[in-house]
Amino acid sequence: MRKIRPGMKEYQLEAIFQHHSYYHGGCRHQAYTNICGSGCNAAVLHYGHAGAPNARTVGDGDICLFDMGAEYYCYTSDITCSFPANGKFTEDQKVIYNAVLNASRAVMAAVRPGVSWVEMHRVAYRAMLEKLKEANIVQGDIDEMMKVSLGAVFQPHGLGHLLGLDVHDVGGYLEGNPNRPQEAGLRSLRTARILEENMVLTIEPGCYFIDHLLDQALANPEQARFLVPEAIARFRGFGGVRIEDDIVVTANGMEDLTGGSIPRTVEAIEQHMAEGQREEEMFIPQLHAQEKLGH
Ligand code: GLY
Ligand code: MN
Ligand code: MN
Repeated sequence: MRKIRPGMKEYQLEAIFQHHSYYHGGCRHQAYTNICGSGCNAAVLHYGHAGAPNARTVGDGDICLFDMGAEYYCYTSDITCSFPANGKFTEDQKVIYNAVLNASRAVMAAVRPGVSWVEMHRVAYRAMLEKLKEANIVQGDIDEMMKVSLGAVFQPHGLGHLLGLDVHDVGGYLEGNPNRPQEAGLRSLRTARILEENMVLTIEPGCYFIDHLLDQALANPEQARFLVPEAIARFRGFGGVRIEDDIVVTANGMEDLTGGSIPRTVEAIEQHMAEGQREEEMFIPQLHAQEKLGH
């Protein structure tokens, strides 16, 4: 976030993360292939793989969605930050970011032993849709939207997954535990389990504008009545936002293992990125002075 500048390649930002986590954290390996999506690539869920290797040039005004996790002593981490390439959110970017943050924080407030992960996914959809409704991107009754899986039009993936030696860890659908749900969005969950103390999971709601899913929803009268067509048209090509934190379920709630080390609000992100830009302004004159001295 501090070093990104429009004009850089996505892979250069991936390289900064890999260097930082190895040099400063001793993490020789990454937990998975880094996803460094800028602009419309932010809506591509597992972008960054060999067929799409973080090769785009970051544009001014782009939203960036960077999903990167280092591995430590064979244990994985899985963290997503979304932020504007130039350090300043547009009004539209703020709306989508805050809708996703609302979903993330609503889930964090509800997580405790005994709750259903499927229910947590519903909590996230509801919190996101409420904010999209406030911004006049969707319209109508939230309960009715939930009945037609409107949330899955914007977030077609699961809320999160067990995390451990593997990034999508085992144990999601053990015998004697709830079966995979069938509804759109919910059926992508990697677990449907009832939460227990000491489970480690990701919480990763997102909101994306994917032409294929928008076209499908607009062609389905049950869903189309909730979409504000002008707003949907405006957001085409926007990309997306995901906020992904790693948590451990505690006796009375949860502990945010990511919390504290990452700026999460719009204000905190803008401040963090402005500090990075100031650092560079201070550093460049020093470099020029060193060059003049022949260093
Ligand atoms: N990084 C893959 C995932 O978030 O599940
Ligand atoms: Mn994840
Ligand atoms: Mn991730």
